[in-house]
Amino acid sequence: MSSYDTIYEAVGGEAVIREIVEKFYPNVQTHPLLAPLFPEDIRPVMEKQYQFLTQFFGGPSLYSDEHGHPMMRARHLPFPITPERAKAWLGCMAKALADTSIPEPLQQLMLERLSGPAYHFVNT
Ligand code: HEM
Repeated sequence: MSSYDTIYEAVGGEAVIREIVEKFYPNVQTHPLLAPLFPEDIRPVMEKQYQFLTQFFGGPSLYSDEHGHPMMRARHLPFPITPERAKAWLGCMAKALADTSIPEPLQQLMLERLSGPAYHFVNT
């Protein structure tokens, strides 16, 4: 990380963010607490998550360019997000990251960065 300006660059950019998203959603779709919240056609969600994580980790602002201000908490309000679901979401992400070749300390850093928003989205 130290020789990179952003987490996005440190993990290897576009290809690796795509890989994370590809590995994350199968975990979500098989998680008993999370699966019922998501549509059967997960592809559009995956594309938005790819765009969002790219900018969240310091890459190009793909999400905002296409969808405007992220307002992520507001966008999650239609869904009942409990603390258990936040924990489950982070668990699915931890599993996805562990399934990549991203070095451990960087995986940990990414999870720490995501845990703030995850618990902030709790609304139920
Ligand atoms: C805390 C647990 C979370 C749950 C249960 C959850 C659940 C959901 C659900 C149900 C959707 C909508 C799927 C649809 O389009 O029908 C969604 C969309 C999305 N979520 Fe989450 N989410 C969580 C946390 C997060 C976190 C931590 C992030 C990123 C920091 C995130 C990023 C996104 C993005 C980018 C979208 C697409 C938004 C859009 O429609 O433009 N989510 N999430």
